[in-house]
Amino acid sequence: MHNFEYYTPTKVVFGKNTEAETGKLVKEQNCRKVLVHYGSGSVVRSGLLDRICRSLNAEGIQYVSLGGVVPNPRLSKVREGILLCRQEGVDFILAVGGGSVIDSAKAIGYGIANEGDVWDFYARKRTAYACLPIGAVLTIAAAGSEMSNSSVITNEEGFIKRGYSSNYSRCRFAVLNPELTYTLPDYQTQSGCVDIMMHTMERYLNHGTNMEITDGISEALLRTVMKSARLLRENPKNYEARAEVMWASSLSHNGLTGCGTDGGDWASHQLEHELGGMFDVAHGAGLAAVWGSWARYVYKECPDRFAKLAVKVLMVQEKGSVEETALAGIEAMEDFYRSIGMPTTLRELGVEPTDEQILELADKCSFGNTRTIGIVKKLSREDMARIYRNAKG
Ligand code: NZQ
Ligand code: ZN
Repeated sequence: MHNFEYYTPTKVVFGKNTEAETGKLVKEQNCRKVLVHYGSGSVVRSGLLDRICRSLNAEGIQYVSLGGVVPNPRLSKVREGILLCRQEGVDFILAVGGGSVIDSAKAIGYGIANEGDVWDFYARKRTAYACLPIGAVLTIAAAGSEMSNSSVITNEEGFIKRGYSSNYSRCRFAVLNPELTYTLPDYQTQSGCVDIMMHTMERYLNHGTNMEITDGISEALLRTVMKSARLLRENPKNYEARAEVMWASSLSHNGLTGCGTDGGDWASHQLEHELGGMFDVAHGAGLAAVWGSWARYVYKECPDRFAKLAVKVLMVQEKGSVEETALAGIEAMEDFYRSIGMPTTLRELGVEPTDEQILELADKCSFGNTRTIGIVKKLSREDMARIYRNAKG
């Protein structure tokens, strides 16, 4: 068991109608002016944005709005937000939306609170020493950004998608009303479920440096998300299933399922981020498409952990050897992805990269052959290219 720090400063307000409390939650932050940040229109169509604005008005809070954040959020929108916040004297950002909106809010927060170009942090040239305070009203259970320390931004110059993590960006509060996710298309719901599962699986599949209590939490979380994902295919308005998935979204990426482990592998995430940058795919679907190829490439490095996942989560009967059980688990996970309409190959994802594009993906993912990714197995640029190739389908 490794030493660990567990830091979750985000106040969670969970349940039906909780968005009505947003004005009060913002008021507690003692700010002068708020940026209300949102996406491409779902919160306008659902009436949520109106309700949030009414709640802010009721508390006499001044605000300006900026919509237009797209999935795989763009640096240009972040820069627009930074300019607007400076002009308007904004000192608090309220993100109303999913991971993309929250991540854009975090990046704007870094841009305001630190001097220089905000992309430097994502390009790993500098470290941020502050971030504007942020609150979130979540509309899709997926990325876990509402409680995580990360944000992921795509720079349109070269379409490079990069993450940056620091505790400064953790949300002050997160409003989690599962009913707000009823309007999601099934593809987004299921893509979100894959992402949630992957945040725990990235931490669970390790070199045996685990804690029993963390394993138990992780296994229960994974089983619950799988069950709920299936229920939501049948009935997208199943409140209990929406609630389980929403809480899992936050717990899966706030550090809880990594306590005592070696910090997580994250290779599947790094591989997917390049797909998101180049082909603009939904993050969870991209993870599903690449995971099987990654798993088959590395499982022999820690077959016990893959076998444990197979038995405890996927209900696979133990086979003659640990490796056989591990392989059966990988197949069972892919069967599950298919059962919820998620891709298990790049072709099914709708992406058919040429050999040249695969080399470009691997080159970007390895930062021009200057880094390896992954802990289960350290992956070189050549390994990455092989995994992308094997994932083509
Ligand atoms: O923009 P709108 O119109 O709101 O539409 C969104 C978007 O098209 C739609 N949507 C959201 N809530 C809805 C809704 N449609 C109908 N009803 C609702 N209630 O769903 C689409 C996807 O939204 P997005 O915010 O992009 O989804 P998600 O939460 O999956 O975020 C994905 C982004 O988060 C990053 C991903 O890489 C990706 O860029 N990640 C962020 C992490 C973090 N900050 O900790 C960790 C993750 O691993 C991930 O990398
Ligand atoms: Zn993710």
